[in-house]
Amino acid sequence: MAKILTLTLNPALDLTVQLPRLEPGQVNRSEDMHTHAAGKGVNVAQVLADLGHQLTVSGFLGEDNLQAFETLFAKRGFVDAFIRVPGETRSNIKLAESDGRITDINGPGPKVSAAAQQALLDRLELIAPGHDAVVVAGSLPQGVSPQWLQALILRLKNLGLKVALDTSGEALAAALKAGPWLIKPNTEELAEVLGGEVVSVLAQAEAASRLHAQGIEHVVISHGADGVNWFSVGSALHATPPRVSVASTVGAGDSLLAGMLHGLLSADTPEQTLRTATAIAAMAVTQIGFGIGDAAQLALLEQGVRVRPLTEQ
Ligand SMILES: Nc1ncnc2c1ncn2[C@@H]1O[C@H](COP(=O)(O)OP(=O)(O)OP(=O)(O)O)[C@@H](O)[C@H]1O
Ligand SMILES: [Mg+2]
Repeated sequence: MAKILTLTLNPALDLTVQLPRLEPGQVNRSEDMHTHAAGKGVNVAQVLADLGHQLTVSGFLGEDNLQAFETLFAKRGFVDAFIRVPGETRSNIKLAESDGRITDINGPGPKVSAAAQQALLDRLELIAPGHDAVVVAGSLPQGVSPQWLQALILRLKNLGLKVALDTSGEALAAALKAGPWLIKPNTEELAEVLGGEVVSVLAQAEAASRLHAQGIEHVVISHGADGVNWFSVGSALHATPPRVSVASTVGAGDSLLAGMLHGLLSADTPEQTLRTATAIAAMAVTQIGFGIGDAAQLALLEQGVRVRPLTEQ
């Protein structure tokens, strides 16, 4: 079992509203409504907890709507190291109609002051040492710059931590310069940050070797149902997921990241690491939520994952 810290700088309260049909401008009656504490780092922490690891969660939380987060952390036994900031954590509202159409309304979230950013750095200086790895996942809140994220990653590295990163756009571009230990972009995120298509395996391998030269040991590129390409120094593997029926892809990327971390920190073989991680991600898409409820189902999904060296077709 490892001790892992996850940072969610811009968490969200996910509110799913189920209704037969959305009538804009009318009074709509919903059939069901669920609120849950979310954000990429929080999601990764939940999957890692299901795998038996010990979690500390941190980042910024709005102090006006803490309840769902504090309840989740208490229930899961997470050490809560979030910095409270004035205002409300953003809400991401999903209007789910019975024909499967989903309308998303994503809130802006609080503006995080320079003092709160400093408070997080000070807190991390105290609590981060002693963890085996730190996951930095998700977008940046208002007020936090990509350069600050880069400095944060350098600081975590200087504390001796392995940093796994999952973000996109300018935040990813800046953070890459700090040389995190592992990154998990999807193919679009990688293309955006490298400024061009990286669809072919050859293009991905070239991009990965440049990233390795910058100190990034593990480049994990996800591509939805097509699976995962994992480039580490001296080895490149591809995993094809089993065919599953898709309930919701929410949390697929977070599950893959959690699974990769689990295997790497448990010193599993690379083949086994990628196989389990791909099965955990496939399991996430079969559920409305994510996480590992059923170990037997996970074992079955693992058997359906095909892992091969990337030199073979
Ligand atoms: N339809 C699917 N069937 C099986 N596995 C899937 C499917 N979609 C996604 N996955 C698994 O989940 C992994 C991550 O998915 P994807 O590449 O879409 O991540 P992402 O774009 O980062 O997602 P997220 O929105 O969660 O950030 C894939 O590499 C794959 O292993
Ligand atoms: Mg993602």
